[in-house]
Amino acid sequence: MAILVDSADTDEVRRALELGFVAGVTTNPTLIAKVKRPGLEVLDDLLRMTEGPVFYQVTAETLSGREAQAREAAAKAPGRVVIKIPATTENLALAARLGREGIRCAITAVSSAAQAYTAAMAGADYAIPYVNRLTRQLGDGIAVVRDCAAVVRNSQTKILAASLKTPEEVVAAILAGAEDVTLPLDVLLAMGEHELSHRAIADFAASLR
Ligand code: E4P
Repeated sequence: MAILVDSADTDEVRRALELGFVAGVTTNPTLIAKVKRPGLEVLDDLLRMTEGPVFYQVTAETLSGREAQAREAAAKAPGRVVIKIPATTENLALAARLGREGIRCAITAVSSAAQAYTAAMAGADYAIPYVNRLTRQLGDGIAVVRDCAAVVRNSQTKILAASLKTPEEVVAAILAGAEDVTLPLDVLLAMGEHELSHRAIADFAASLR
């Protein structure tokens, strides 16, 4: 069970890690493009900032290119860099090959339980469904998480729920069986807040006056 921060922005990541309960960092090509820096340089910084896992996605157009990217990134901190590989049959085979060599892999952009099941059969460490995107595209991202969690239950593959936009969506994903979640900083900070808690704090303060 773990919360990760979904960001390639080192200021955001620092803020998240300072909370003391964030286990690691996930990135994706869009998040890295936003910070306008070379991906491997960002990866180096993130690895220095946390002792936990840092997820890094391969993007090359060819399979051999993605494999080379995976090896280069994984070599930066063996066992701690988790290579994100988008779900396709060809990429599942890549994950199986890398996994046999001890490179940790996450099958990402998982859109069906069939993909999560094959990720488990390929020995991936994680299958990552994009909950909010799936809700927008298919109608019910939480149902996809539930099915994914059910089909990987007897494997070593964890469901890491991503694309989560509110604390309520995070909780729904966990209740549906996601073991880990990755959250943007705003959602992460919102997790520990509730209007009624603030009201209770104010009431206690008033009773001391
Ligand atoms: C997961 O690791 C992805 O980086 C991310 O959560 C996707 O979220 P989005 O749908 O907000 O882009």
